[in-house]
Amino acid sequence: MRILSGIQPSGKLHIGNYFGMMKPAIELQNKGEAFLFIANYHALTTVTDPAQLRKATLDVALDFLACGLDPDKTVFFRQSDVPEVMELTWLLSIVTPMGLLERCHSYKDKLAQGIVPNHGLFAYPVLMAADILAYQSNVVPVGKDQKQHVEVARDIAVKFNNQFGQVFTIPEHSIIESVAVVPGIDGQKMSKSYNNHIEIFGEEKEVRGRIMRIVTDSKGLDEPKDPEKCNVFALYRLFATKEDLKAMTDSYKKGGFGYSEAKKKLFEVMWNYFEPFRKKRQGLEKDLVYVNSLLEKGAERARSEARKTLVLARRAVGVE
Ligand code: ADP
Ligand code: TRP
Repeated sequence: MRILSGIQPSGKLHIGNYFGMMKPAIELQNKGEAFLFIANYHALTTVTDPAQLRKATLDVALDFLACGLDPDKTVFFRQSDVPEVMELTWLLSIVTPMGLLERCHSYKDKLAQGIVPNHGLFAYPVLMAADILAYQSNVVPVGKDQKQHVEVARDIAVKFNNQFGQVFTIPEHSIIESVAVVPGIDGQKMSKSYNNHIEIFGEEKEVRGRIMRIVTDSKGLDEPKDPEKCNVFALYRLFATKEDLKAMTDSYKKGGFGYSEAKKKLFEVMWNYFEPFRKKRQGLEKDLVYVNSLLEKGAERARSEARKTLVLARRAVGVE
């Protein structure tokens, strides 16, 4: 089974990314043949500063390696190091109906935000389909917001196979339902674009500050509280052991336990959770030559897979 996922280097990774995508993607490296890449071409639809893109690309590589990605188990690479994917994007474009792309939520959301769309933004899902199909992926673990894009990739693969003969494996998405959406400090979906996120490797003061600013209702210290309606609790749940979670649930229900206490506990459990990863990251930061060589090795392996698919696709459409 081939498992593939990608992540855009468009900012520092946060705990929504971690639980929605990184952790499940990293765990899958023990369940099949895993491919993971840094989607720097996709990021170009939003990041316009070259230095920022370079820095964010390296940060994502460090973040994943620090959080447990094992380069011996996972083929780990930069999207732009596999030019075959760009060629495949064009071959897929010719079977992609405009309407399919016009219906994509993420595109419609960007329009609703008043962003003037360019072709790259519109064609974003076709490039993503090429990413997925180039490696004949079976499973694509993503957060809920990317599910539709994986469905688009399926539709495109089916259309291509119907029109030109069997070339592509039909992929499936896999969402970790229990943590499908991690809330941000304002209670909306955590997202760097809403600036409601908590970074995995943020500075201690910044992380603590953000946790202390998590929005809660205005119940006083003595009043009983409903854990199921609380953003602090929703985040605590991601890190806490069963026993600690039970203890906090009881404290909420009993009263006499304030939100600031809950926030302090959340900070502690989160900070400890990422402590070993932080140490590992500090070590990697001192050895960027090693990190880059890993990415290059990953790209070589990915290219040889993508090339095989591209040859099939080129033959199928008649350019070879
Ligand atoms: P952001 O919303 O911060 O821009 P991205 O859109 O770059 O994050 O998402 C990268 C990956 O992390 C995707 O697979 C996405 O589904 C997942 N993800 C992002 N935010 C969350 C969240 N709040 N909860 C669960 N998964 C998330
Ligand atoms: N669009 C994805 C995101 O923003 C990143 C991505 C690009 C991706 N290509 C992919 C994810 C292929 C899975 C498979 O999160």
